[in-house]
Amino acid sequence: MTGPVRRLLPEPTPRLRFREMTAGDLDAMAELLGDPEVMAYYPAPKTRSASADWIARMRDRYESHGHALWIIETHDGVFVGDCGITWQSVNEAPVLEVGYHVHRSLQRQGLATEAARACVNLVAREFAPTLLTAIIHPDNTASRRVAENLGMTHIDDDHAHPWIVRTVMGMQVSPR
Ligand SMILES: CC(C)(COP(=O)(O)OP(=O)(O)OC[C@H]1O[C@@H](n2cnc3c(N)ncnc32)[C@H](O)[C@@H]1OP(=O)(O)O)[C@@H](O)C(=O)NCCC(=O)NCCS
Repeated sequence: MTGPVRRLLPEPTPRLRFREMTAGDLDAMAELLGDPEVMAYYPAPKTRSASADWIARMRDRYESHGHALWIIETHDGVFVGDCGITWQSVNEAPVLEVGYHVHRSLQRQGLATEAARACVNLVAREFAPTLLTAIIHPDNTASRRVAENLGMTHIDDDHAHPWIVRTVMGMQVSPR
């Protein structure tokens, strides 16, 4: 028998703090994931009910893995988006992925890069040595730029996804 999973959280950054998502975040998450611009590289923007499912999935992942995407907000509590670490698969093999979504009004200020760096530090602390990936739609320049800012390079293409060949950015994270 193993004990309960330890719940992880990235350290705060100069502009951002992390916390677990709850059902109380539905208005903010539905606005974020319902924005056609934020979801341009997904099959479709999410309905309110799909956003509720998203939150529930993250809560299941906190329980079972200790991590998932977390809410990122300013130190004053202004909602910025989500960012975190999830298990994904690339060509059927499990990999850790850093993911991020930033509210349209707050993009292009370096916030995704800042949050994702805190996640890399958490991976260095808790999982290293390990591969960390960002699995990206080939046309998603902003996401690719964030991955490059972290030090990732194009390491693979994922052919196992039903509707697109995805670009796999990755880096080896060493313990710190
Ligand atoms: C990807 C995303 C999180 C980036 O958030 P952000 O806070 O604007 O990112 P940053 O400010 O840290 O910018 C990172 C880099 O991307 C560039 N960038 C940001 N938005 C861009 C855009 N729309 N087009 C081209 N480049 C862009 C920035 O100029 C910056 O480049 P630099 O480091 O060379 O100066 C945001 O665009 C987003 O939420 N997109 C929709 C959700 C998504 O696709 N998530 C990733 C799924 S894999």
